[in-house]
Amino acid sequence: MRKLTLDNITSVAVDSFGGIPEPRRRELVQALVRHLHECAREVGLTHAEWRAALGFLHRVGDISTPERSEFSLLSDVTGLSSLVDLLASEPGATPGSNLGPFHVAGSPWRDNPVDLTGANEGLRVLLRARVLDAAGGPLAGAEVDFWQNAGNGLYWQQDPAQPTDNLRCRLRTGADGGFEIATIRPVPYEIPTDGPVFLDLVQPAGRGSWRPAHYHLIVSAPGHRTLVTEIFDAEDPYLERDAVFGVREALVGRYTEEHDPAAARRLGLPGPAVSVMRMDFRLAPGGPGA
Ligand code: BEZ
Ligand code: FE
Repeated sequence: MRKLTLDNITSVAVDSFGGIPEPRRRELVQALVRHLHECAREVGLTHAEWRAALGFLHRVGDISTPERSEFSLLSDVTGLSSLVDLLASEPGATPGSNLGPFHVAGSPWRDNPVDLTGANEGLRVLLRARVLDAAGGPLAGAEVDFWQNAGNGLYWQQDPAQPTDNLRCRLRTGADGGFEIATIRPVPYEIPTDGPVFLDLVQPAGRGSWRPAHYHLIVSAPGHRTLVTEIFDAEDPYLERDAVFGVREALVGRYTEEHDPAAARRLGLPGPAVSVMRMDFRLAPGGPGA
């Protein structure tokens, strides 16, 4: 009979997964088991603490539904999602940031430029952006999937009072790689505060629940890595304390007043000036799954 001891339990457990045929999957599972054991050893994990941790994970699973993944939120508030984004980021390319739980596939296609303002209340603004390759060349026909919250902080699918697909669209960049979205300035909002991730982890740490205002975008073009990212507002009070660590310097944009009477008229603004945020997105070469 094999003799299991404190000295060999970790290597025996790690080795027990050596039969996983796919090398990368084997590496991932074995590293995870090794690190779990290391963590338990480092803190001298007790039975009560181990049971509490399993109970927490149970509650994370219990509250999760197809529309709400508390596991994603757990990954976000522990900085794991951002670490994975940073590990994947390529020098010279726009960094990635949180996908978040409010992306829904199948956003409606709209012509570029697009006006999403509709009946939304809020400050009318323009996002004027370009999609470029890593060398700065324009990527014409790139796909942009865009979504944001409304003036009450909610995304359309959270709020029955908003029309279906409010403040979201897909469009294609023009010949110069450019696209323009007339919209309302997004507002800060809270991560879900009624689940175990906030109540048992974030709140006891004295951390806040707020995310700074942002646009979400997924930008893709053939021959390039798909970029999942966010654009933040330089004037937002929560920029330094995003509950999910999504802010990167290159993703912060500033609204400036531009003299553009035609755009101002289209947006129903009283004067000739429009609040414009300009942003370039640079895609790294590679396939979508790179
Ligand atoms: C969001 O940006 O929509 C979001 C991201 C992470 C957690 C909660 C919300
Ligand atoms: Fe969001």
